[in-house]
Amino acid sequence: MQASAQLALIGHGKMGRMIEQLAPHYGFELAFALDHSSNPGGSGITPGCFRGIDVAIEFSNPEAAVTNLERLAAARVQTVCGTTGWYDRLEKVSAAITAAGTGLVWSPNFSIGVAVFRKLAGLAAELLGPEQEYGAWAWEIHHDTKKDDPSGTLLQLVNTMRESGYSRPISVSSNRAGKHPGTHEIGFDSGADTITLRHAARSREGFARGALRAASWVLGRRGVYTFDDVLFGPHRNS
Ligand SMILES: NC(=O)c1ccc[n+]([C@@H]2O[C@H](COP(=O)([O-])OP(=O)(O)OC[C@H]3O[C@@H](n4cnc5c(N)ncnc54)[C@H](OP(=O)(O)O)[C@@H]3O)[C@@H](O)[C@H]2O)c1
Repeated sequence: MQASAQLALIGHGKMGRMIEQLAPHYGFELAFALDHSSNPGGSGITPGCFRGIDVAIEFSNPEAAVTNLERLAAARVQTVCGTTGWYDRLEKVSAAITAAGTGLVWSPNFSIGVAVFRKLAGLAAELLGPEQEYGAWAWEIHHDTKKDDPSGTLLQLVNTMRESGYSRPISVSSNRAGKHPGTHEIGFDSGADTITLRHAARSREGFARGALRAASWVLGRRGVYTFDDVLFGPHRNS
């Protein structure tokens, strides 16, 4: 029988625990999980502790993620990162991954549904960009413990709309309340009609499954990738 790939979790909160539950279904064995108390300032990530680890999945918080990712690269560990709110330092992290010769897949949203939703948002923005009477909005709601606001996913959706040719203002808003796992909506409105595109997550399971799929995919790969590369890139099924 083939041995399970060894998985380390960096962050053992709502997402880390969901990934732990599903990991065996993706051929992973959880070796250990680090949280804030076992990894202050990234100090729990050392080459010695990570010997024999095939891949790490990082879901911590925006303050911790960059140091964690740099230390994982220095320990030469293949990594998937779902933490949001640190992307202003993506270049710095990418340089560390390249220098170490390891692989990283990052995404503000590991849901397959959201990846497809973003493609649809891009197409709508491209088609409505030239239609001057249409205004646009982007909105999201999440549980009240989510730290970044607006979400990384909403910012990515707005970027996609911009890159697809929608150059007029986009009204961006967000709410934080209760236990909501995440709804994102983009819309276009004119005097004649409204188009609404909405993605509603039912639970965190879709994010966890996507992160585990990315973890299988990144094994043996070098460089910095997004979840789009896993799902839609030339090597998506390999
Ligand atoms: N990409 C996606 O698909 C996706 C989906 C959902 C959420 N997210 C993002 O993922 C992140 C985590 O979400 P969550 O809901 O799991 O949050 P959470 O429940 O608050 O869990 C965060 C975890 O990170 C740990 N942590 C804090 N500092 C750490 C450090 N230095 N090293 C290791 N672990 C550390 C915390 O430990 P303590 O408990 O000891 O403080 C806790 O276990 C957030 O940024 C969220 O926005 C992304």
